[in-house]
Amino acid sequence: MSNTRANKRFRSQEWFDNPNNPGMTALYLERYLNQEYTREELQGEKPIIGIANTGSDIAPCNKIHVFLMDRIKAGIRAAGGVPMEFPVHPIQETGKRPTAALDRNLSYLGLVEVLHGYPLDGVVITTGCDKTTPAMLMGAATADLPAIALNGGPMLDGWWKGKRAGSGTIVWESRRLLSEGEIDYEEFISRVCSSAPSLGHCNTMGTASTMNAMAEALGMSLTGNSAIPAPFRERMEMAYQTGKRIVEMVYEDLKPSDILTREAFENAIKVNAAIGGSTNAPPHLQAIARHAGVELDVKDWETVGFEIPLMVNMQPAGKYLGESFFRAGGVPAVMAELQKAGHIHEGCMTATGKTMGDNLSGLGSEDEDVITTYDAPLRKNAGFKVLSGNLFDSALMKTSVISADFQKRFLSRPGEEGVHEARAIVFEGPEDYHDRINDPSLNIDEKCILFIRGVGCVGYPGSAEVVNMQPPDALLKQGINHLPTVGDGRQSGTSESPSILNASPESVVGGGLAYLRTGDMVRLDLNASTMDALVSDEEWAQRKADWTPPEIKHQTPWQEIYRTHVGQLDKGGCLELATAYHKVCQDLPRD
Ligand code: FES
Ligand code: MG
Repeated sequence: MSNTRANKRFRSQEWFDNPNNPGMTALYLERYLNQEYTREELQGEKPIIGIANTGSDIAPCNKIHVFLMDRIKAGIRAAGGVPMEFPVHPIQETGKRPTAALDRNLSYLGLVEVLHGYPLDGVVITTGCDKTTPAMLMGAATADLPAIALNGGPMLDGWWKGKRAGSGTIVWESRRLLSEGEIDYEEFISRVCSSAPSLGHCNTMGTASTMNAMAEALGMSLTGNSAIPAPFRERMEMAYQTGKRIVEMVYEDLKPSDILTREAFENAIKVNAAIGGSTNAPPHLQAIARHAGVELDVKDWETVGFEIPLMVNMQPAGKYLGESFFRAGGVPAVMAELQKAGHIHEGCMTATGKTMGDNLSGLGSEDEDVITTYDAPLRKNAGFKVLSGNLFDSALMKTSVISADFQKRFLSRPGEEGVHEARAIVFEGPEDYHDRINDPSLNIDEKCILFIRGVGCVGYPGSAEVVNMQPPDALLKQGINHLPTVGDGRQSGTSESPSILNASPESVVGGGLAYLRTGDMVRLDLNASTMDALVSDEEWAQRKADWTPPEIKHQTPWQEIYRTHVGQLDKGGCLELATAYHKVCQDLPRD
């Protein structure tokens, strides 16, 4: 045993080996000795390592973790730790109604409570599906026990008739083909299911791949963790090494607060732009930053990230899927290329125990068709625009998915590139959109902008991924696949729609979108990063004065708790009261 291991007193010993309270010690031992552990393990001055298992039948995107548990535990035991697996509240993006986003904060709360209240010295947080990754990182940040992230990995690439079929992305395309009458319902189902050939999370650069790239870019996982496909042998190896490493992290007392610094978040924002990452990353990173006590503003996404080029050729912004990304080097290769261009804070400490600069040393793209160099990117300025105006204080636009055709139709006016004035069509949520999108009296033409409101954190609740609205069938048949869309909800990270989303504050709490009417003219100026309803100040003030908030009906106790305490998307959609709690595991709970 090395010197660093001598005389270390663990937090878990307060439960299992506390001479000041032998009665309670006996009680704690009695139940844990029941099946899984021996006294030698629990009282043997070994760190107890929690494993937060996010996988289950109800959370299929993360189910691979059920099978990775044995390898994580083997790694923990090999390094001299004692593993203690526990379940976390499931968050299945595609299964949870009304939204999976509603449960991110619930899962977060549950993790904080487990880490604080049980005899744990460190934790492996398992990640994968969209909200599971931020929920686990937020909880780890609040608890501030040594913590390391293990992704389950993306599914194998999907294929449909000889072409790559990417998770989510093929859904949007197939929906369009179904509306246009190009395919029937059976083919629609077959196309969609072809994109999911194995265990794992979405194989596109949707929110799952993005958030796992963020975990790695922040330094919260081992190098190379995020991109390894779920069924690969390297995934098993990564699980084992992650288990080994967390034990060392406990001895080193290497905690999230040592890793999650402002510089680490800047690295992550740049990586997000380079990978063509999801518009869900900003609210999730804001939330992680706030729980870590790091200052991050939604505007930082434009100031830090906008000029970073798109370097990863992966759907929805490009053509490949997860397997190619992994073979081309994954996140470390992207970061190494960014580093060569001087865009990475190299000194950031990471879960490896080394700095990010050391982790990336000698790495680079293994396939420049999939991961480009910084100087020969797929497109320039691939970060987000953060817009503001009388409709919202902030809203995001992902520019890396704007097609040349869209740019030409909407954003090119002689002498005023990037400026567009259009008639607004306003929908009250997705049900209203589906009811009326094909209503001829709305007169929707190729120059209109579609708005959706009432779909934010409080409104939906949880904020729904519905802003990427499809144009009416009549326009689709003319080949108009995209209209600009705007809303106070979010959109799927797998969508290639050039939407303006996450508008904050949302309409139901009195944000500007509440006062917009169908037929109003709206001006979008991408150069100035503004969007405004062209309505006089007097008229706007009058509409505000006349406005009554919509009635809100809670369906469960959690919906009411969530709505009472949630903030807006630009601030991460956190439970506001929770952001006051930091490093809670420094305080021992009472016996
Ligand atoms: Fe779970 Fe995409 S829906 S990872
Ligand atoms: Mg989603």
